[in-house]
Amino acid sequence: MKSFTDKVAVVTGGASGIGYALAERLLAEGAKVVIADIEQAALDRALTTLSAGGAPVIGVRTDVSDPASLQDLADRTIEAFGKVNIVCNNAGVETGGSFLTIPEQAWRWVMDVNFFGVLNGCRIFLPLLQQQDEAHIVNTASVAAFNSGSATMTPYCASKFAVLGMTESLEIELRSGGSSVGVSLLAPGPVRTRMPDAERNRPSTVPAATEPGRVAVMERLAQASAESGLEPSYVADLVVDAIRENRFFVLTHPEMATAGVRKRLHWMETGEAPPARVPGT
Ligand SMILES: NC(=O)c1ccc[n+]([C@@H]2O[C@H](COP(=O)([O-])OP(=O)(O)OC[C@H]3O[C@@H](n4cnc5c(N)ncnc54)[C@H](O)[C@@H]3O)[C@@H](O)[C@H]2O)c1
Repeated sequence: MKSFTDKVAVVTGGASGIGYALAERLLAEGAKVVIADIEQAALDRALTTLSAGGAPVIGVRTDVSDPASLQDLADRTIEAFGKVNIVCNNAGVETGGSFLTIPEQAWRWVMDVNFFGVLNGCRIFLPLLQQQDEAHIVNTASVAAFNSGSATMTPYCASKFAVLGMTESLEIELRSGGSSVGVSLLAPGPVRTRMPDAERNRPSTVPAATEPGRVAVMERLAQASAESGLEPSYVADLVVDAIRENRFFVLTHPEMATAGVRKRLHWMETGEAPPARVPGT
């Protein structure tokens, strides 16, 4: 996609963090943007800022874990702008704990948002994207898709592995069929966003993760993200470049991603287990 002018982009999780930065950057490139988010107040705030000066942006309250809500997002996008060229399936959440303490509802929430939200975004928007000469899907995974073993984050890790497997397979199928729809996988490492506070969007059916070890991990993650996380705007720049160049992997911390893959390869080839992580990390 050489130009973004007058293209129409949908960004889920667009009220905060990486999604907000993506919306801002796509608008700056000349696209029309639909931001979708489950948090109405954050959506309203984002819309007020992004639409200043009359920028072509609308907000649609969306729960990506609900296919009917995603279908409504697609319908509202067509109603407002008549077409879709770019879909960023970016909304994500995180909760966890040590393995046996994680309740079924927590697993379902993380998989429903992080995996089924991305999958259904692809299923619902692909027929609309296929009507365009230039179109692109960006699915957000994480470096956790290449690195298992982060303490208390097993559901998150599993959901991001699933996004990786699904997105790679989709890309191969579309490219093999000569599709006009490009596919990218965004796999961020630490980025300065509200992700460490993802439980703010926890449905009432999902218990809070209060296990002390888990709380400590989240505190460390929040601190590390605040101190050394990348700015979301940097990630948005990488994504826009990847869409422009039709590049699959968008890695904010390539060294973390490749180290994870090398670790697994070593494990597979030698049978030697990778080094255990330091307890409590
Ligand atoms: N920040 C990081 O360090 C990091 C690292 C790797 C991957 N990621 C991924 O990046 C993506 C964006 O997260 P972020 O870091 O910007 O966090 P964030 O919390 O700032 O933004 C996530 C947005 O998703 C929205 N959301 C949550 N549940 C939703 C639902 N059911 N339907 C619609 N919207 C929903 C939230 O309201 C929020 O606005 C996520 O998929 C996350 O897993 C982030």
